[in-house]
Amino acid sequence: MAISTDRIIAIIAMVIAVASLCCCVYLAQSDDSGDDDSMTEYERIVHCADQVRKYTDSEPEVAIILGSGLSAVVDYVDVEAVVPYSSIDGFPTSTVAGHAGNFVFGKMGGTDVVIMQGRVHYYEGYDVKDVVLPIRVMHELGADTLILTNAAGSLRYENEPGTFMLITDQISLVESPLVGKNIPQLGDRFFGMKDVYNKELTQVIKEAAENHGIEMAEGVYVQYSGPQFETAAETEMYRIWGADAVGMSTAVEAIAAQHMGMTIAGISCLTDMATGMTDVSPSHEEVQRMTEKMSGQLAQILEEVLSRYNMADF
Ligand code: HPA
Repeated sequence: MAISTDRIIAIIAMVIAVASLCCCVYLAQSDDSGDDDSMTEYERIVHCADQVRKYTDSEPEVAIILGSGLSAVVDYVDVEAVVPYSSIDGFPTSTVAGHAGNFVFGKMGGTDVVIMQGRVHYYEGYDVKDVVLPIRVMHELGADTLILTNAAGSLRYENEPGTFMLITDQISLVESPLVGKNIPQLGDRFFGMKDVYNKELTQVIKEAAENHGIEMAEGVYVQYSGPQFETAAETEMYRIWGADAVGMSTAVEAIAAQHMGMTIAGISCLTDMATGMTDVSPSHEEVQRMTEKMSGQLAQILEEVLSRYNMADF
C-alpha cells in the first residue's frame, strides 16, 4: 500500500514534536536537580586553582587586585611566580588596554601575596560570575584578605585628582554575582553587608599613608557597569545618594569576597573629577596617566600595610 506524501509529512511532524517534548522534559529535569549547577561553578573554581598550583606552591595570605594603570605596584614585590590568565583553562582574560593579565605570586612587606595584575570588567561582556571568578580562585588558593584597588572619578570637589580614597562602603548598580543557586562551599545563601570594608585593616592603611605623608580621603564608592563614563545628571544623582567616588569595578568583587567571609579593604585612586563637575570630560587616557603617576605611592602604602599584616588582628 502506497503512503501518501501528506501522511509522510504528518509522521515526520509527529516525530519532531515527540523529540522536542522529550528534550524539554530532560532540560526541565536537569534544571531542577538541586546542586548540579553550583557544583559545576565550584568545580570550575577548583579546576582553575589546581592549574595555578602547577606553577607555584605559594600559599598567599593576602590577595590584591590592581586597577587600570596600577600594574607597576608589582615592581615592589619579590616575585616568586607569574601565572598569565591565558594559561588557565576556563579563566576570563581582560581585553582592556592598561590591564595586564597575570597572577603574580611573591612577598610584599614580608607577607605572601597573590596580586592580580589587571582585572576583568563586566563591561567587557563577561558574565558577572566570570568577573568574580579570580577572587574565588585566590580564596581557594588560601587568601583570606582582599585589598581592592581601582581608578575612580571623584564626586567631591575637595578630593582632587591625585588623591587616594579609602572605601568605607559601596553602592552596586551591577547585578549581584550571587544571583542563582548558592555555592554552599563558599558561603551562605543570605549574609550581611554591614562593615564590608574592614575597619581595622582600613585603619592600618590610613596610618601607612600618613607615615608616608600621603593624603587619604574616605568615602562611599559607587559601581555602575560602564564602559561609557557617567553623564552629568548621573554624577548629580550619585552625589545626592551620598557617594564620593564612581567607577566601573570593585563592588561586585567585594560582594563575592564578603560571601566567602574574607577581610576586605578598598582603595580608590581618584584620577579625575566625574562628568559635570568640571569643564573636562573624563577620558581613559587621563585615567591611565594619573594611575601610572599614583602607582608608586600606592605601592609604598601597600608595602607598609603588608609589613604590619602579621602583627595586626583582623
Ligand atoms: N567615571 C567612571 N569610572 C572611572 C572614572 C570616572 O570618572 N574615572 C576612573 N574610572
